[in-house]
Amino acid sequence: MKCVVALLLFGCLCLVFSYGYVSQEIFERSKHIWNKLILTHHWPVTVCKMNNSLCKDPPTVWTLHGLWPGKANMCNKSWPFKINEIQDLLPEMIHLWPDILHPNASQLWKHEWLKHGTCAAKLDCMNSEHKYFSKALELYKKYDLNGALVKFGIVPSTSYYQMKDIKAAIMKTYGVMPKIQCLPPDCGQSPQILGQIEICFTKEFELRNCTEGESKSHHFLKDTPVDCSLKQEDFCVCNDTLKTYYPPVNQTWN
Ligand SMILES: *[C@@H]1O[C@H](CO)[C@@H](O)[C@H](O)[C@H]1NC(C)=O
Ligand SMILES: *[C@@H]1O[C@H](CO)[C@@H](O)[C@H](O)[C@H]1NC(C)=O
Ligand SMILES: *[C@@H]1O[C@H](CO)[C@@H](O)[C@H](O)[C@H]1NC(C)=O
Ligand SMILES: *[C@@H]1O[C@H](CO)[C@@H](O)[C@H](O)[C@H]1NC(C)=O
Ligand SMILES: *[C@@H]1O[C@H](CO)[C@@H](O)[C@H](O)[C@H]1NC(C)=O
Ligand SMILES: *[C@@H]1O[C@H](CO)[C@@H](O)[C@H](O)[C@H]1NC(C)=O
Repeated sequence: MKCVVALLLFGCLCLVFSYGYVSQEIFERSKHIWNKLILTHHWPVTVCKMNNSLCKDPPTVWTLHGLWPGKANMCNKSWPFKINEIQDLLPEMIHLWPDILHPNASQLWKHEWLKHGTCAAKLDCMNSEHKYFSKALELYKKYDLNGALVKFGIVPSTSYYQMKDIKAAIMKTYGVMPKIQCLPPDCGQSPQILGQIEICFTKEFELRNCTEGESKSHHFLKDTPVDCSLKQEDFCVCNDTLKTYYPPVNQTWN
């Protein structure tokens, strides 16, 4: 009798463990699934503001931050970044994809490859380091965010913008909604500061709205302005109702 109980117990434990193991594995894999590509641009002047200790003479164009496959990340830890594979791209990368906060940009590229590139690599057209970085540069040049903003008069300025005007410029250019992020205001009266603009694509590289098809998981909370108000450390989705500062270079503020 004791034996039977012990056996049953053992069986149950095995089931619990194997189930736990399987679900862990499914969970790990689900983190590698994605349906949306996010071309992320940032405004170097604002990025410098977040940590100006090493930031001298930031570029005066929106530069690439990354090409991100949805929320998937770290899909293949055994696929190291090798700068030699993108040697021919470096002259362009240095200008269009600089690491704003660190003089050695290869740290940023390494990070982007390991975190995002290894996930993007599930598509044949990005299944190598060279293809991934080339694709990001290609999209950045093709969609020319800098040109789009200038065309609609959205230029760095000491006066403030309405979010609807910035959104309209992008909507009119691309026909899809971007995701726009700001440094939240310090306190009541100060403006939010424009920092990051994401343009989204389907897996087929068709433009799509950034806003739809996001699961309302805990990740979602991270994007809500409420979550990180009063914290000038990270970008939040810009608040539509607040005045917005698009800071010129060499202009100090608060
Ligand atoms: C700012 O940069 C310095 C030097 O790289 C670093 O030590 C510090 O942690 C950074 N601070 C933030 C908030 O990123
Ligand atoms: C991870 O990357 C390595 C090196 O490119 C490759 O050999 C391996 O097949 C990859 N693993 C998966 C699961 O894609
Ligand atoms: C730049 O960063 C890469 C990757 O972290 C490192 O291998 C390389 O030695 C660094 N180069 C310089 C000049 O610091
Ligand atoms: C994209 O967003 C715009 C504005 O919110 C909306 O009018 C349009 O229908 C959306 N497009 C798609 C394909 O969902
Ligand atoms: C946007 O800002 C206004 C004014 O400060 C505030 O009342 C509102 O709650 C904010 N919206 C969000 C979503 O945080
Ligand atoms: C910003 O200031 C630096 C140093 O004072 C100067 O070298 C640089 O040319 C200025 N940039 C612009 C765009 O005015």
